[in-house]
Amino acid sequence: MGDILEVEGLSFKYSDAPRNAVSGFNLAIPEGEIVVLAGPSGCGKSTLLRTVNGLIPHMYGGEYSGDVRVGGSSVKGSNMRDLAQSVGFLFQNPENQIFMFTVERDVAFGLENLGVPRNEMRARVDEALGLLRIGDLAQRAPHELSDGQKQRVALAGVLAMRPKLVILDEPTSLLDPRTASELVALVVRLRKELGTTFVVVEHRLDLLMGVADRLVVMEGGKKVAEGTPKDVLFGEEVGTHGVAVPAVTRVQKMLAGEEGVGVERLLTPSELAAAVEGREI
Ligand SMILES: Nc1ncnc2c1ncn2[C@@H]1O[C@H](COP(=O)(O)OP(=O)(O)OP(=O)(O)O)[C@@H](O)[C@H]1O
Ligand SMILES: [Mg+2]
Repeated sequence: MGDILEVEGLSFKYSDAPRNAVSGFNLAIPEGEIVVLAGPSGCGKSTLLRTVNGLIPHMYGGEYSGDVRVGGSSVKGSNMRDLAQSVGFLFQNPENQIFMFTVERDVAFGLENLGVPRNEMRARVDEALGLLRIGDLAQRAPHELSDGQKQRVALAGVLAMRPKLVILDEPTSLLDPRTASELVALVVRLRKELGTTFVVVEHRLDLLMGVADRLVVMEGGKKVAEGTPKDVLFGEEVGTHGVAVPAVTRVQKMLAGEEGVGVERLLTPSELAAAVEGREI
């Protein structure tokens, strides 16, 4: 399978900013991967996502060089309408993405804008509601829902467009731990059922490290590490890049080599507990 997302020598400086928000960035993501983008606040994660969904350079002014391609098409040469169909984007706060009086109308919003015929719209909205298991909320008012439900409604609106690539900017920041794990499970299921590629900015690495294919770490607008979560988190340097290595992984690293604690893969807290059970630490 080819690369759904290609970033080549990308640099961007917002017009009023003193320096580049993203510098000399390269990235190639094969279709169907779950990729986590991490790094300290202000390192350029959201900016990079904006260059993928087209807000940069189409909506934000600045100095742009290099190229970003989605499904082989250059983002800077595409219009926002076409991009809206190839890249799904979930804002950090779903309130910013919910506009209509019923969940159903809300999920249909993007399709209506595209002028998709009524019966096809109906089918796609029902499919998206079904995928997110929120069919029973169809007639509810979005503003009455919980944060987790709103997040699902917003994501249903994104999926109804059937994008091949979905980018999520800190999708769990408003969610309680249980709803956050449900969202992660949902990402895994959608990748499996639809083959959707996900690029997720996430601070809570513990949530996603077990399911991500790739972890990309940024600092100061540059890529400073990339690889499988295991390789990056077990690497020497990752802590110095302002990435919070999950506690379970730090302990695994400390105990690595001892009986029952390998470094072939990242252990979950319960696996690590089982491995060291009965031992004095
Ligand atoms: N609209 C803007 N205009 C000017 N500068 C901006 C704008 N948005 C972001 N920046 C600057 O670009 C740099 C990267 O910001 P960005 O929001 O991409 O970081 P981030 O990694 O998403 O941070 P966070 O984890 O806090 O969300 C920062 O220096 C920021 O101040
Ligand atoms: Mg951000």
